[in-house]
Amino acid sequence: ALDACHLIDLPRVSDARGALSFVEGQRHVPFDIARVYYLYDLGPAVTRGAHGHKALEQLIIAVAGRFEITLSDGQQSRRFELSRPDQGLYVGPMIWRDLGGFSEGAVCLVLASLPYDEADYFRDHAAYLEAVSAS
Ligand code: TYD
Repeated sequence: ALDACHLIDLPRVSDARGALSFVEGQRHVPFDIARVYYLYDLGPAVTRGAHGHKALEQLIIAVAGRFEITLSDGQQSRRFELSRPDQGLYVGPMIWRDLGGFSEGAVCLVLASLPYDEADYFRDHAAYLEAVSAS
């Protein structure tokens, strides 16, 4: 549900040399981390996402730059701005997501609960709405 999607503050270890953040599965995120992927070389006008997932859980982090994410459960939507490497957005199952507004040099890091599986995607918004209203 949309209510379960929230920002998670991650550990940050800073000293004169810089900063370090980390994420452990089942500790900082409520799932085991099965996959890591990242978006980069993103043009300012591009949009990404535009899909839902059946079972996948994710933590989305702006490790560089900033961008915005709109999450929807088919009824309501919430918009988040990510710009901090020490903060992640938890996205649960059955949520539609749209990403955009990428700043120059933005890197979107995603920690995911499952390996890549195209069968877990809703690519079609109408099919997503039908499935989410039935669930
Ligand atoms: P997609 O999930 O549509 O990207 P986004 O939501 O960021 O716009 O994936 C883009 C392409 O990359 C698609 O052809 C599937 C492929 N892909 C993988 O092969 N493995 C992965 O882990 C991911 C996330 C995508």
